[in-house]
Amino acid sequence: MTSTWLRQTLLAVLTGAAAMAVQAQTIGHETLKLDAPKPKLAPTPPMGWNSWNKFKCDVSEKLIREQADAMVSSGMKAAGYQYIVIDDCWQKSRDADGNIQADPERFPSGIRALADYVHSKGLKFGLYSDAGALTCGGRPGSAGHEFQDARQYAKWGVDYLKYDWCYTGPRNPEAAYTIMAKALRESGRDIVFSICEWGNSRPGRWAHPVGHLWRTTGDIWDAWKGKKEWSHGMLDILDMNADLWSEAAPNGWNDPDMLEVGNGGMTTTEYESHFSLWAMLAAPLIAGNDLSKMDEATRRILTNAEVIRVDQDPLGRQGRRIWRQGDLEIWVRTLQGGDRAAVLFNRGQKPADMKVSWEQMDLPAKLRAEVHDLWSGTKTRGVAGEFGGRVQPHGVLMLRITPMP
Ligand code: GLA
Repeated sequence: MTSTWLRQTLLAVLTGAAAMAVQAQTIGHETLKLDAPKPKLAPTPPMGWNSWNKFKCDVSEKLIREQADAMVSSGMKAAGYQYIVIDDCWQKSRDADGNIQADPERFPSGIRALADYVHSKGLKFGLYSDAGALTCGGRPGSAGHEFQDARQYAKWGVDYLKYDWCYTGPRNPEAAYTIMAKALRESGRDIVFSICEWGNSRPGRWAHPVGHLWRTTGDIWDAWKGKKEWSHGMLDILDMNADLWSEAAPNGWNDPDMLEVGNGGMTTTEYESHFSLWAMLAAPLIAGNDLSKMDEATRRILTNAEVIRVDQDPLGRQGRRIWRQGDLEIWVRTLQGGDRAAVLFNRGQKPADMKVSWEQMDLPAKLRAEVHDLWSGTKTRGVAGEFGGRVQPHGVLMLRITPMP
C-alpha cells in the first residue's frame, strides 16, 4: 500500500515535473510552435485609420466614433479604408484576475460597445498592445497575458491587433510575436496581426508565418526628411524600405509606418509624393490624420482611386527603385496582368524633365501602351518606347502603363 502510494505519488510528481519542464523549457526559451496556419486576412495591404500620428494618447470613445463616422461620410470607406484602430493609451490597468481594462474615463461604455459601433458602420475594429510588460506609453503590456488578452480581444470583437515592442528586455522578437500569433489563432476570431518591432530584427525574414504586416523602421514623423528623436521624415523611411522589396507578398507586407497625409507638416505636393510612394511600396494604407476635419486636398489624395488600385494590386509585388541620379529617381512596380506603375520622383528644389523607358520597365521597346497619369487623370494612347513630363520640386509623376492589344 505504502509502496503503491509512494510509486503513484512519485509518478505524479515526476510527470508534473516533466510537464513543467517541457512547459518551462518551451516558454523559457520561447520556442512555441504555431499549430494553425496564418489566416489569409490581408491578401492586399490593409487599409484603415489609426489614432497615433495625430492624437497620440488623447484617445476616447467619442473620438473613435467620430473617426468611424467620418470614414464613411468622407468617402474613405467607399475608397477601400476599413480598419479603425485605437493605438496606445486606451488601456489603464488589469483587474484582480489579470483581465485588461480600458480607461474608464475615456471609454465609459467599454470596448465591446465601441467595437459594435464601428461594426455597425460596416467597418472593422482594431486595438494596440505590446509584447513587453508595458506599452510604449507606459500602459499595461501583454507579456505573460498573451492568451488571456487574445481571448478578451475576440470577445470584444477585435479584428486587428497592432503589437508593439517597448519594454521587452532581452526577448527574442520572433518568439515573442509567435506567442501572440498563436494566442490570436486560438482565440476563435480572425484577427489581423500587425507586428511593430521597428524592423530591428529584419522581420521580413521570419514574420511571414507569424503576422500580416511588419514595421520596417522606427516611427514616421510629419516631415519631408530628417530625424527627430527616434522618428524619421518621410524620405528617410522611404530610403530604409527601398531594398526590402523581395520580402513582401500577399498576406505579409512591409509596413513603412502610417500615413501623415493631412497632418500639416508637409505641402500638398509632398503628401502626393508620400501617398504615391507608399502605394509603390505596397504599404498598408493607414491614414493618420483627423478624418473629421479633412480639407479637400487631403481627401483628394487619400481617396485617389487609381493610386489606391496600384497599392492594392492583387499580384502583391512591391515596387523597386530602378534608377537614381542626384535628386531624381524612378520607381517601378509590376502589376497583375502585365501593367506597370511608375513613379518619376523629384526630390530636388527645381522642376525637372523626366522620362521612363519601356526597357527600364522590362517591356518591349515597340510595345504600344496606354499611359494614365494618375494625378492629372490624363490618358495617352498608343505610346511606344518611353514617356515622361515635367516633375515639380518634391513632386511625382505617377503613371500606369497598360499594354494595348
Ligand atoms: C511606438 C510605435 C508607434 C506608436 C507608439 C505608441 O513608438 O512605433 O507607432 O504605436 O509606440 O506609444
